[in-house]
Amino acid sequence: MHIVNYPHPTLRHKSKAIRRVDAELKKIVRQMFELMYEANGLGLAANQVDLPLRMFVVNLESDPAQGDEMVFINPVVSMPKGTEEAEEGCLSLPGLYGQVTRPERINVTSYSINGDEFVAELDGLLARVVQHETDHLDGILFTDRLTETGKLQVRPEMEKFEREFAYDREHGTIPSDKEVARRLVEMEQRYC
Ligand code: CO
Repeated sequence: MHIVNYPHPTLRHKSKAIRRVDAELKKIVRQMFELMYEANGLGLAANQVDLPLRMFVVNLESDPAQGDEMVFINPVVSMPKGTEEAEEGCLSLPGLYGQVTRPERINVTSYSINGDEFVAELDGLLARVVQHETDHLDGILFTDRLTETGKLQVRPEMEKFEREFAYDREHGTIPSDKEVARRLVEMEQRYC
């Protein structure tokens, strides 16, 4: 398992709800936390490790020894209130940052890794991370939410990622769109 960068097609995949949690899925969650910590991230969505599963992991401290490890399965964001602008980055666009305006407070209904439903009212950084990660599950990147000026500003960096992706593909380290799509269907048949 590894983190895929923009413009990997799985980042544009709208994930279907997870219907079963097995020991393998729990292992996947553990691996996602480890990859997130290695990359110093606060959140990581399944799309970012090339999996079509409606889940993400969060630790606002990005440190297994500190902060809470949170797993969100089939999260639904509702009741957005207020707006707030803040800088965001993404482990699938390393080194790229931009100002994103989002609701300041939200409610989230989700399942834990043990299958328990929970509801939380969120604000601050956690509200932002949960919205950013839920976007991933719908195939949305934070760069889609930049202003037109913001999009123009990051265009050269986005093009650099696009060139790197094309190079990796040519050299066979990234499967074809068809092969990626075949794998996603296989995973969906197992979990969704
Ligand atoms: Co991200």
